[in-house]
Amino acid sequence: MTPLLLDLGTHPQLFESLAAGLNAEVGHLNQRRFPDGETYLRFDDDCRGRHVVLVCSLNRPDEKTLPLLLAAATARDLGAVEVGLVAPYLAYMRQDHQFNPGEGISARYYARILSEHFDWLVTVDPHLHRLQALEQIYPIPTGVVQSAPVIAQWVSAQVENPLLIGPDAESEQWVAEVARHARLPFLILEKVRTGDRQVRVSAPELARYPGCTPVVVDDIVSTGRTLIATIEHLAGQELPAPVCVAVHGVFAEDAWDALHAAGAGRVVCSNTLVHESNALDVSVPLTAGVAEKLARGGGW
Ligand code: R5P
Repeated sequence: MTPLLLDLGTHPQLFESLAAGLNAEVGHLNQRRFPDGETYLRFDDDCRGRHVVLVCSLNRPDEKTLPLLLAAATARDLGAVEVGLVAPYLAYMRQDHQFNPGEGISARYYARILSEHFDWLVTVDPHLHRLQALEQIYPIPTGVVQSAPVIAQWVSAQVENPLLIGPDAESEQWVAEVARHARLPFLILEKVRTGDRQVRVSAPELARYPGCTPVVVDDIVSTGRTLIATIEHLAGQELPAPVCVAVHGVFAEDAWDALHAAGAGRVVCSNTLVHESNALDVSVPLTAGVAEKLARGGGW
């Protein structure tokens, strides 16, 4: 039976491409707030016997997650045989360790909550740092879609003589993949984060790459401090303004303006989150990742 796909807050074009690529029926969810702030939901579509797929980019996760879980529970009660989650951006991946006494591991708790409501999850480049794989915290089947081929294609087409730069050790997993696909050189810097908005990075060795255009690649731009610290270290090297590429453009608070004030050249992100930086379309690999999950569950 044709899967039923519902948009609970994602990039409109990404959702459209996904629905077209999957040949899915687009469902509609009536959603509003009761006067006391609670969420009201009603499916317009018949969920009985259907594979229901909810698509939701989980930025601003605290406000988006509860309606998402209520929608998943409702779909199941209405007779869905399977309820899958497509989260182009997956939240709560960075608190993956107890850094200080009294803290918890939110990545693990959030994974547990989502896993109680969904049969599977597909996401794009989750922030795997101290965790090696989503399976370590998600008991449900998960699919990870890589944006590296899309980034590689964009950099090759848009940047002259690019040198890929990763701002910290964990960025190597993304930067190395982009470099492999684009057949480009890359450097990885060392980052020390001393607070939410305090970041230092080591000086890069750029002398070996004369005339290059630095392209800083990271998975997330949130406060922008990681990219800004990298740009500051590249300053004074008589290079073009660094191009900044991130998979997920969260852009918390003043991040966008601060990045430009720091001297960033073009700043581009994928369409896992809606932002004016969107220049990388991950709909093709995302569709393939979701199709695989639906095929396994018999939803196709
Ligand atoms: C962290 O390890 C990530 O890979 C990013 O570097 C980080 O999340 C970016 O955050 P911000 O923009 O707040 O520096």
